[in-house]
Amino acid sequence: MASDNSTVHLVEHPLVQHKITLMRRKDASTNTFRRLVHEVSALMAYEVLRDVATHEVDVDTPLERTTGRVIDGKKLVFASILRAGTGILDGMLEVVPSARVGHIGLYRDPKTLVVVEYYFKMPADLPDRDVIVVDPMLATGHSAVAALDRIAEHRPKSLKFVCLVSCPEGLAALARAHPDVPVYTAAIDRQLDEHGYILPGLGDAGDRIFGTK
Ligand code: URA
Repeated sequence: MASDNSTVHLVEHPLVQHKITLMRRKDASTNTFRRLVHEVSALMAYEVLRDVATHEVDVDTPLERTTGRVIDGKKLVFASILRAGTGILDGMLEVVPSARVGHIGLYRDPKTLVVVEYYFKMPADLPDRDVIVVDPMLATGHSAVAALDRIAEHRPKSLKFVCLVSCPEGLAALARAHPDVPVYTAAIDRQLDEHGYILPGLGDAGDRIFGTK
């Protein structure tokens, strides 16, 4: 069972589960769905960044000087798989506004079914940065594996993958290709259908975020 894999973190916080359930409703409007993606992504960021490095700084309160801990947001990269990853990206940037952003665009050639990259732009110096790859749906895993393959070529300091809904097929594909990459997901659904949609899932995340259907 994919969830037995120690690199898979199922985020079971009640607020996350509540929002995922609302997102599944077929009658949720584009506005509602997009807002929920932002909110749940911000909540996921708390879990994903639980082990992010902090350093000590001096801080003057109105009463005296003390020390506190801060993260170095500039060392974080949120890498969005276009186009649906944009929804998670926006939610995570609300929590870590200083993070850097990368984009990777992929499509599946309808004839060969091979994943083709049409866009790739990442911040420089990835060996100094922790990269968090985001895409709402981990379905077949083909795009996630292709994105991780490509980003791994740049030797980031660390690599994580975040999705909202996954399925056993996608988790297995990711575990085979990138066994060391931790995966964060808010749901592990039953299966893929014959068109590559997750069941029960929430439909096409990109269309629902952007209102394109
Ligand atoms: N992509 C989606 O947006 N939804 C699915 O169910 C599978 C892939």
